Amino acid sequence: MPEPILKWAGGKRQILSQIVDHFPSDEKIMGYHEPFFGGGAVFFRRCHSYDGTINDINTRLINFYKIVRDHPNELLSQLEKFDRPDADPDPDRRFDKTNRKGKEIKSNYYQVRELFNRRPNDEEFDEIEEAAQLLYLNRTCYNGLYRENLSGEFNVPSGNYSNPDWEQRSRIREASEALEGVEIFNTDFSYVADHAEEGDLVYCDPPYDPSGDASTFAEYSSDVFGKEEQERLRDLALELNDRGVYVVISNAPSVGELYEPFNEDGFHVSRVGARRAINSNGDGRGEVKEVIVTNAEELRTRDGTIPEFAF
Ligand SMILES: C[S@@+](CC[C@H](N)C(=O)[O-])C[C@H]1O[C@@H](n2cnc3c(N)ncnc32)[C@H](O)[C@@H]1O
Repeated sequence: MPEPILKWAGGKRQILSQIVDHFPSDEKIMGYHEPFFGGGAVFFRRCHSYDGTINDINTRLINFYKIVRDHPNELLSQLEKFDRPDADPDPDRRFDKTNRKGKEIKSNYYQVRELFNRRPNDEEFDEIEEAAQLLYLNRTCYNGLYRENLSGEFNVPSGNYSNPDWEQRSRIREASEALEGVEIFNTDFSYVADHAEEGDLVYCDPPYDPSGDASTFAEYSSDVFGKEEQERLRDLALELNDRGVYVVISNAPSVGELYEPFNEDGFHVSRVGARRAINSNGDGRGEVKEVIVTNAEELRTRDGTIPEFAF
C-alpha cells in the first residue's frame, strides 16, 4: 500500500479509518477527487485506485507531486546528492556564506532553504531540483511544518533529527505508480465542480477554522480559511450533492453547524476524536474533536429523490 511521502499539518493519518468509514462502499465509487491534498493520507492509503483528480493551492507542493508522478528516477538521484542538514554549506553553490538579506548561512539546511526560495524571488529554478529540496526540507525542518512568510518564502528553521531520512525511495516509487493517470491541479478547490461526475467521491479536508470555536467563528481574515471560505465549500458540497456526487468533509467541530440545516438533504454530521500533531499555537497536542460531514450514507437530491446509483 502506498504511504504519504510528506509530513503535513492537518494530515489525516490519525483518523483515517474513521474518515473512510463514512465513504460509500468501493463498488459505488466511480472516481475520486481530493481538492485539499496536502500530504494526501487518504488518497495514498485508500483511494489511489480510482481515476480522478487531486489539487492543492500550494504551488511548490503540487510541483512536487507532478515530479513524483512523472520523474521519480530523476527525483531520487537528486535526493541522493544532499548532505546532512548540519553539514557545512556547499562552497560550490550559491548562498554558501550569506542569504539574500546578507545574514550568515551556518549550515547546509539553511543553504538548501535559501536555494528552495528561488521561485518566490522570481529567480530561475529547476522543477525537479525544487521538488527534491521540498522533500529534503520537509524531512529535516522543525516539526515537519510548512510555513511561508508574506513574500512566499519557506521560513521554517532546521529541526533536530539524529537520523533524518529524506530519500524515501520506496514511498516515492509507490506514490509515483499511485499517481499515474491522476490529473493534478494547482488552483482553488472550486475547480472540482467542473471535474466531479455522478457517482464520484469528493473528499475535502480544508484548513481548520483558526478559532476552532463556534463562538468566534465569524472572526477571520482574508488570508485564512475562515467562515466565508467554509460557506463557499458548503455551497459547492450542496451543488455536488444535487448532481449525485458523494461528498465527505473533515474539519473542526464548528464547521458542523454549517451542514446541520441540510440534514434533510442527506448531509450527516458526526464528531470523532483526533489527536492533532501540529498546532500553530503549540498547545494543541491533546485529544480534539473533529467533525466528519458526509452525504454518502444516504444520498438524496434537494428535491427529495434518491438517485438510482445510490443503491
Ligand atoms: C488540512 S490540509 C490537508 C491535509 C491532508 N488531508 C493530509 O492528509 O495531509 C489543507 C490543505 O488545503 C490547502 N488549501 C488551502 N486553501 C485552499 C484552497 N482555497 N483551495 C485548495 N487548497 C487549499 C492547503 O495548502 C493545505 O495543503
